[in-house]
Amino acid sequence: MSAEWTIREVLNWTRGYFEDAGIVQPRLEAEILLAHALDVERLHLYLSPDKPLTVDERSKFRTFVQERRAGIPLQHLIGEVTFFGLRFKVRRDALIPRGETEELLDRTLRLVTRDQAARCLDLGTGSGVIAICLARYLPRASVTAADISADALALARENALLNGVADRVAFLESDWFQNVSGTFDFIVSNPPYVETETIEGLAVEVRDHEPRVALDGGTDGIEQIRLLVAGAGEHLEAGGRILLEIGHGQGDRVRRLFVDAGLEDVTIETDLSGLERFAVARRLQ
Ligand SMILES: C[S@@+](CC[C@H](N)C(=O)[O-])C[C@H]1O[C@@H](n2cnc3c(N)ncnc32)[C@H](O)[C@@H]1O
Repeated sequence: MSAEWTIREVLNWTRGYFEDAGIVQPRLEAEILLAHALDVERLHLYLSPDKPLTVDERSKFRTFVQERRAGIPLQHLIGEVTFFGLRFKVRRDALIPRGETEELLDRTLRLVTRDQAARCLDLGTGSGVIAICLARYLPRASVTAADISADALALARENALLNGVADRVAFLESDWFQNVSGTFDFIVSNPPYVETETIEGLAVEVRDHEPRVALDGGTDGIEQIRLLVAGAGEHLEAGGRILLEIGHGQGDRVRRLFVDAGLEDVTIETDLSGLERFAVARRLQ
């Protein structure tokens, strides 16, 4: 980039540069990063396409572009994401929340009424998205958020503050149910479910920038799910439900784990892409 570059020119150039790097939504990412560098809303880029960038703005944007091209996730560069209508901080300490997990949350919320005093547990809370959304959208619910990672829990606490529910969510460092006491109406979890040997082949954004503990599901992908399901029965209230996000191709095996754990009404459900992605079961008594 040289001489006087306008917003339009910078965006066009960056789109091509990102496209060459195999970035899936090159124009969108260029716009988001430029808006972030200029500290404006994306709309501003459309309102002032002929505005030249200052030297400082160009330099700041150039750094972002190089970092993005080197594989740093967009969300880490801008430091936040929107999840289910709320804003969350993100950084390397916890998984960047995904759209599939919004679907998991949506499925959970459809099983509860807004005024229900449901006891909810989010296991493997990461950035806290599931627990915090449950607390925000269910004002009478009590919510516990557990994770084995102290760094993830620190981020989740910051996100609870940011979203005004710090006093509504109890955070707990725990290896699955180890430090969890009591029973719950809903146990919701997006556990690590990637087969260990698959991780090396994932996109650099995931492989090198997401915490391994958030991804690694062991040799068969369901090692952590197996541990989690084994402890679920005794922490579910009669009539309580467990909802898990799972990997494609894991449905039959997770169904068997649920049945072996004495859970009933087991269903394996697909996500918006049509892939099996959710396992739901109920403790009847
Ligand atoms: C796939 S991430 C999900 C994060 C967040 N819930 C989300 O959906 O974005 C899995 C989370 O499980 C946590 N985790 C992994 N092993 C665990 C264990 N043994 N006990 C508790 N949490 C664990 C990881 O630290 C990570 O935060």
